Amino acid sequence: MIVFLTTVSWSVKQTTNGETYNCVDFYEQPAFDHPLLKDNKFNFQPSSSYSVDSSGSSNKKQSDIWLNGKGCPIGTVPIRKTTRDDLSRAESAAETVHTNTNDNLHPQRYIDDNPNVHVAVLRTSEEKKYYGAGMITSVYNFAVSSQQYSSSRIKLQNGPDSIVVGWTINPGLYGDNATRHFIYTSTKDSHCYNTLCPGFILMSPDTPFDSVLQVSEREKNIRGQKFFVRKDAASGDWVLQIGLDNTTVGTWPQKIFSKLNDSATYVDWGGEAYSASSEDLPPMGSGFPPMRSSVLDGYGRQVTLVDENQQVDYNPPECVTYTSDNKRYKIFDEGNVGGEIQRLIVFGGSSGPA
Ligand SMILES: *[C@@H]1O[C@H](CO)[C@@H](O)[C@H](O)[C@H]1NC(C)=O
Ligand SMILES: *[C@@H]1O[C@H](CO)[C@@H](O)[C@H](O)[C@H]1NC(C)=O
Repeated sequence: MIVFLTTVSWSVKQTTNGETYNCVDFYEQPAFDHPLLKDNKFNFQPSSSYSVDSSGSSNKKQSDIWLNGKGCPIGTVPIRKTTRDDLSRAESAAETVHTNTNDNLHPQRYIDDNPNVHVAVLRTSEEKKYYGAGMITSVYNFAVSSQQYSSSRIKLQNGPDSIVVGWTINPGLYGDNATRHFIYTSTKDSHCYNTLCPGFILMSPDTPFDSVLQVSEREKNIRGQKFFVRKDAASGDWVLQIGLDNTTVGTWPQKIFSKLNDSATYVDWGGEAYSASSEDLPPMGSGFPPMRSSVLDGYGRQVTLVDENQQVDYNPPECVTYTSDNKRYKIFDEGNVGGEIQRLIVFGGSSGPA
């Protein structure tokens, strides 16, 4: 018997937050608009060797995210339904923050390139080859104006190429004050957010990428989200994994990069805050100055680095804390505290004048 399956009932999915996703054929996703990926020969097989031990976080199960308990069908990927407004917001948001890194800049100076962008991060202090980085970061929500954003994220960079992954409150990008996942991809030729970025290929049919995240209640109920980015040794492509089960969400083919196709030479973990006006900076972390407590502060735990031997380092050496505005934003490296927390950083700040 031949069963004709109509795809109509599958083409749109809703999350329990009321967001709408289109289930787009894998090869029809925006990533393949990239001139280098147009040939559709992409055949990515994630290797099974990515798992990093972790526990004690509170990510939602996939089945809790989707209204009917199920994501998109195999062979398709969920792309958030975007309006023309969403697109133009995303484009201008990507332009505003672009840090115009030139090839010759020393890695330690990458983040000082844009005076409106502030960070409080742990960062590598030696220019070595790095093949990945991860952390579980606590997720918060607080007020951010339309001329600001605030994120907890990981950044991997080499020259003009960078990958930034984490959560953000970014009204300029999303049109609201919700806390969501984001990625920001920069190459010599382009810089853009999320799945609108030609080059970032979504892999998972049931992981909505830029959906609204459950956030922590300070002191009471702390919610963490795990992010892990790694260069696949076999294919050379960069892979994004989210959640404790290390779900492979997507991949950046190495051929879109001119430097990250080799390795990252710089990695940092922590908070990033932007304001168009230096008179008024947004909160960071949990929205409060760090008290050096994992239930009060924005934190990154299980801070990991994939070293030049492709080994996951659970206590990355040669890392130093750095903050671009020590009055407003602070970060503490608590070292490897063991247990489920391992390498711990706490960071943040409240809003106010620069
Ligand atoms: C976000 O919150 C700020 C402060 O409460 C408010 O001024 C702004 O209008 C909000 N933005 C959006 C897009 O909701
Ligand atoms: C990375 O790309 C650049 C520019 O296309 C190329 O010159 C270089 O050889 C590549 N490096 C690796 C390791 O593939």
